[in-house]
Amino acid sequence: MNSIWTEKYRPMKLDEVYGQERIIERLKAYAEQGNIPHLLFAGPAGTGKTTSALALSKELYGDNWKHNFFELNASDERGIEVIRKKIKEYARTTTLSVEGFKVIFLDEADSLTSEAQAALRRTMEKYSSNCRFILSCNYSSKIIDPIQSRCAVFRFRYISKEGVTDWINHIAEGEELTITEDAINLLVQISEGDLRKATNLLQISASTTDSIDEEVVRQSANIAKPGDIEKMINTAMEGDFMESRGQLYDLFVDYGLSGNDIIRQIHKSIYNIPMDNERKMKLVDRIGEAEFRMVQGSNERIQLEALLAHISKDFAKR
Ligand SMILES: Nc1ncnc2c1ncn2[C@@H]1O[C@H](COP(=O)(O)OP(=O)(O)O)[C@@H](O)[C@H]1O
Ligand SMILES: [Mg+2]
Repeated sequence: MNSIWTEKYRPMKLDEVYGQERIIERLKAYAEQGNIPHLLFAGPAGTGKTTSALALSKELYGDNWKHNFFELNASDERGIEVIRKKIKEYARTTTLSVEGFKVIFLDEADSLTSEAQAALRRTMEKYSSNCRFILSCNYSSKIIDPIQSRCAVFRFRYISKEGVTDWINHIAEGEELTITEDAINLLVQISEGDLRKATNLLQISASTTDSIDEEVVRQSANIAKPGDIEKMINTAMEGDFMESRGQLYDLFVDYGLSGNDIIRQIHKSIYNIPMDNERKMKLVDRIGEAEFRMVQGSNERIQLEALLAHISKDFAKR
């Protein structure tokens, strides 16, 4: 039995995927037809993109799915050349399935440069007679148009509050846990529609006790107390940039937070910090910019420091 719950509880069938009903309905229709176009799965992490690609393949090929499904991660492999070589090798071996095509799942396709995507597009065309590509990405806007137009695009959404609650109850039942309503609410709040996050946090919480309450979840979550983030912003607003920078580094080190976690918590916190509307709007705008740049791959610490510098400079003494 797999001990990592995200794998142990990964749905095997399309019908078992939570919270993506419209997408699943269409994927089931493809499975019934025994044919699929190239697919593009876009959406946030932990919402079922990989799971759906696997489940679709299992329903297409039955027990033989492993011979007809090939998974690559665009961000693992260095450059498009490696990807092309692997795809070529895989595509060249003929498929024994009645469907007549094999599936290539390319995860994190949006990590490829546009040149690499152009090459990928040619590869897709070259092998389209015996391969179908399923591309997965966080942002479809980062996928070049010629690829998007060759794919049926599916937009995965954050899982709703109800969906996450159902999922947590599903695992709690499987693991014979008792869990309080408050604990579930906190899990829902922290995981923000990301079922991988919810599952991992539930497993960490359950590692010390099988009777889980809010406090157990709080201790298991490496979340900064909202107060810590607010303190950092206040320090910057008082004009003490170096001190706020130190507090930022403590957040990275003490809580092991990623830049993305921090920027999201900053975004939530600023609504609790008293300041006039005009300032709030400017700050939200600046946060949005930093978040965008981080998503585009620029250095997280530099972006966050720049944000603090901006707050110290423009917000403090005006
Ligand atoms: N829609 C979903 N329904 C059920 N479980 C899910 C769903 N999305 C994510 N999970 C859980 O999170 C894990 C990771 O999901 P995955 O499909 O790999 O997410 P991603 O969208 O990042 O590809 C799964 O193994 C499963 O445990
Ligand atoms: Mg995935």
